[in-house]
Amino acid sequence: MNAEGSKDKRPGAEPHVVVLFGATGDLARRKLLPGLFHLSCSNMCPEMRIVGTSLDDLDTDAFRKLAHKACHEFSSRDVSDELLDQFTAKLTYVSQSASSSSEALAAAVHEQVEALGGDARLLHYLSVPPKAVMPVLEKLSEANLVQHSRVIMEKPFGLDLDSARELNDAIHSRFDEERIFRIDHFLGKEPAQNILAFRFANGLFEPIWNRNFIDHIQIDVPEKLTLEGRAQFYESVGAFRDMVVTHLFQILAFVAMEPPTELAPQAITDEKNKVFRSMRPLDPSQVVRGQYKGYRDEPGVSPDSDTETFVALKCEIDNWRWAGVPFYLRTGKGLAEGQRIISIAFNEPPKSMFPPGSGVGQQGPDHLTFDLADVAKMSLSFYGKRPGPGMKLDKLSLQFAMEETGRAGDVLEAYERLILDAMRGDRTLYTTADGVERLWEVSAPLLDDPPPVRSYDLDSWGPNAIHQLIAPRAWRLPFERVWRGKN
Ligand code: BG6
Repeated sequence: MNAEGSKDKRPGAEPHVVVLFGATGDLARRKLLPGLFHLSCSNMCPEMRIVGTSLDDLDTDAFRKLAHKACHEFSSRDVSDELLDQFTAKLTYVSQSASSSSEALAAAVHEQVEALGGDARLLHYLSVPPKAVMPVLEKLSEANLVQHSRVIMEKPFGLDLDSARELNDAIHSRFDEERIFRIDHFLGKEPAQNILAFRFANGLFEPIWNRNFIDHIQIDVPEKLTLEGRAQFYESVGAFRDMVVTHLFQILAFVAMEPPTELAPQAITDEKNKVFRSMRPLDPSQVVRGQYKGYRDEPGVSPDSDTETFVALKCEIDNWRWAGVPFYLRTGKGLAEGQRIISIAFNEPPKSMFPPGSGVGQQGPDHLTFDLADVAKMSLSFYGKRPGPGMKLDKLSLQFAMEETGRAGDVLEAYERLILDAMRGDRTLYTTADGVERLWEVSAPLLDDPPPVRSYDLDSWGPNAIHQLIAPRAWRLPFERVWRGKN
């Protein structure tokens, strides 16, 4: 509802029927159904109905129960049963296992369109693994559900350059690019967008945001969780395709891009794609692949699986701003901590004026750190004088936590923000065909000739080779100093 108490009438906010493919899957239960629930209760979202579909043989009642349970289990906010009942009443389900499933899907969707007054827009959400995308696209054509619709595609978008091109051709034969929303939920995270605000709304850091002042950059996303039932999906994907070619490279683009001419989809896409075009093809000798001990025993995993559950790599952007500044990226499952940080290490000054033993430079260079947690934080570390006689130096920091603004409750979860943008036709935070294809192109040397996978202990920081990869520098994580808590 808007301030006058009526539903949002902004352009792009017409009623929507969301057709959710993969409606019983892990992502749907953890994020999409709770996210749609929150949007449906908010005053931001237009009227909507949801038609869930998947290979599971459920009926609408069972799907509503599944959604009810998922929202209770995974919603990040308080859930009132009354609101939840209102939400689940908007859900219907069609199984794809029946031979007449295209007609059944078409009938269910049209029924919901009629329920919304007859001119609702369709938003197809393809929350399905890469190999299921083509059959779903065919089903959309068979069911005649392409007109007046937009489509959100989950990552990874293809598994290499050839499959991404094939997928782009298949999708472009049905939808023009304007109606395709390739999702990368890291770009929907509030702190990711804050990188743009921080860089381009302030005069302080942008002048030093280049190779003359920055030594190196780390984008580090260790995860504690293991595969917990997703091993079968992971077997055909692995950490590089699941996390790096998607999320970490997209974040890298926000960190590295030139100022866009405006905060609009084309201008931002142009600058991101320029970063991708300047990326050097990955060098497999600068990549560490790892697999946690015990992964091969998980259901659905081959006993001699070569799939990586961990990857760390060095990547380079060969342009005027970044030539010679290495970007170190790391992510993996079953690691010691769950974190999402970007760490900018500044060049060190000459230190000869300080007496021996002063401590200058001993805790690494000055760092600017972004914590991409849902409630984001930022820190700038620097050397300062320890109070008292003489000149001893300590590493100190200026820190900011989004909670301090008192508006942390207004944060939309990444999927919520992005689904809402898709309903409004806003592609600013979505990726494009060119960008995705270029990323597969720079990844080709690694995919063609991957280094051997090395095993690592659960609760570690990955295989030992990660230290050689970054030497003589060091990984920021685990942090030497913890974030300050609230006073
Ligand atoms: C998903 C990956 O896209 O992102 C998962 O498929 C990963 O493997 C997840 O765990 C991490 O996202 P978030 O938002 O929990 O950091």
